[in-house]
Amino acid sequence: MLPIFATERLILRPRTMRDLAASIAMDDDPLVIRFIEVPWSDAASHTAFVMARIAHRYPPGLGYWSVFEGGDRPAFLGWILLTPLDLVGPEIEIGWRLTRAAWGKGYGTEAAAPVLRHGFETVGLDRVIADIDRANSASRRVAEKLGLRPIVEDQKRPRAVRYGLTAPPISSRVRSAHRVASR
Ligand SMILES: CC(C)(COP(=O)(O)OP(=O)(O)OC[C@H]1O[C@@H](n2cnc3c(N)ncnc32)[C@H](O)[C@@H]1OP(=O)(O)O)[C@@H](O)C(=O)NCCC(=O)NCCS
Repeated sequence: MLPIFATERLILRPRTMRDLAASIAMDDDPLVIRFIEVPWSDAASHTAFVMARIAHRYPPGLGYWSVFEGGDRPAFLGWILLTPLDLVGPEIEIGWRLTRAAWGKGYGTEAAAPVLRHGFETVGLDRVIADIDRANSASRRVAEKLGLRPIVEDQKRPRAVRYGLTAPPISSRVRSAHRVASR
């Protein structure tokens, strides 16, 4: 079971079938998928793809989190993923996708930060990567603000830049665990 995260403005909880329609509606916006090589060709294959991603059994601590605005009537804003690359790995990728109305408010970075921290501190990952289309400036900026840096590596996607971040040294992980524990 994945943890729930609360940030200053957002709630992240594991994505479930309840988020299916909202996830599909988000992807139906051509600007949202402008830089994404989508694997579906019509509405039926799109729905099948999202359902399969929701139902997939990810390794412990990994998966998708739906992002909601806090408050009384939380609105679906998108998702953050932390999964094996293309579901097979061995690299672990982090990814983000938000509805257009949610862009430009710092939500992407705010939502991804606790997921990245969870990946290092709880799951114990050694490295997290993000393959981002060269022209996707907003996404590249999110990666940079989270501390990921471009890495030169042979990879399958020539249009993409691979960003990566390695786990902080053990001593700083222990210090951060103390901080959480003493709150
Ligand atoms: C990528 C995405 C999640 C960013 O969400 P967001 O909430 O707007 O991100 P943030 O506000 O945290 O940060 C965006 C940063 O990019 C900058 N930015 C946005 N558009 C930009 C552009 N066209 N050129 C340069 N910088 C841009 C913003 O100014 C901000 O940087 P700053 O804080 O230094 O000012 C959102 O645009 C999205 O969902 N895009 C569609 C899906 C997608 O492409 N996902 C990534 C696939 S790799």
